[in-house]
Amino acid sequence: MNTVLETKNLQVYLTERKEEKQLVKNVSFSVGQGECLGILGESGSGKSMTVKAILGLLDRNFRISGQALFEGKDLLMECKESLRRVRGNQISMILQNPMTCFDPLFRIESQMRETFEVHTDWDRETIRKNSLKILERMKIQEPEEVLKKYPHQLSGGMLQRIMIGIAMLLQPKLLIADEPTTAIDSVTQYEVLEEFLRIRQEVGTAMIFISHDLGAISKVADRILVMNQGKIVDQGNFSHILHDASDEYTRLLVEKRMAVMKKYREMVSGGAICWN
Ligand SMILES: Nc1ncnc2c1ncn2[C@@H]1O[C@H](COP(=O)(O)OP(=O)(O)OP(=O)(O)O)[C@@H](O)[C@H]1O
Ligand SMILES: [Mg+2]
Repeated sequence: MNTVLETKNLQVYLTERKEEKQLVKNVSFSVGQGECLGILGESGSGKSMTVKAILGLLDRNFRISGQALFEGKDLLMECKESLRRVRGNQISMILQNPMTCFDPLFRIESQMRETFEVHTDWDRETIRKNSLKILERMKIQEPEEVLKKYPHQLSGGMLQRIMIGIAMLLQPKLLIADEPTTAIDSVTQYEVLEEFLRIRQEVGTAMIFISHDLGAISKVADRILVMNQGKIVDQGNFSHILHDASDEYTRLLVEKRMAVMKKYREMVSGGAICWN
């Protein structure tokens, strides 16, 4: 399998009031073509920091060391302009907060058009056709109407799905999705996760899928890294994480998830949940 991204001893430090704090510690991993790597961990464990550092999305208060080799080229050594080009053409990122990715002043259609004008050679008609296709694929109702809307007129979940659809249609070599399904209800989440699987199969895109949800991650990831306090504390396939995790923190995460599932099943079977 061709390695698409490999990080080596990635470290991220934050300087605040002349003090340096380490947020990401010695993170090394790789993702191959057509592979999906899951990153699991609780809030604040350093998941977003890790991928933001790789993509050059952190400001000057942060110091980064180590290597992030994308097809052999170290992204940490690249200038801002060249990183911007890589981000647009070869690596797509679905950010955790969808609101920040849309300009409040422009309608959805014009924002989608602008993105496709920059990254493809499609004519206007093809762009419109593909924009509608994205919304349909992402199970958004009344796509024609949605294209005319401004971001604040749509829910966070809808914006998140539009972002996922755009990223997928661009067919990047690497897709980084940071909590891509958190704002989406569970039925739609299932369908969106199916889309992730489909793009991987059809295009062979390498993926990094970040989540604190073991259920979502288990559906798409071939391999899972567990992060705690900026460090990788465990890694393996879903079965390893579920049954044989050596790390205490990982076991705790799994137990918590199981406890929630058990409680849910008890409520359903005990009639505490009413379906009408
Ligand atoms: N802009 C920032 N300035 C200072 N510290 C930050 C900043 N962003 C994140 N941190 C800190 O870095 C650490 C890692 O944060 P990060 O956002 O990577 O967590 P995460 O695992 O993505 O959590 P979540 O699941 O909530 O998204 C946390 O301790 C957080 O407080
Ligand atoms: Mg995060």
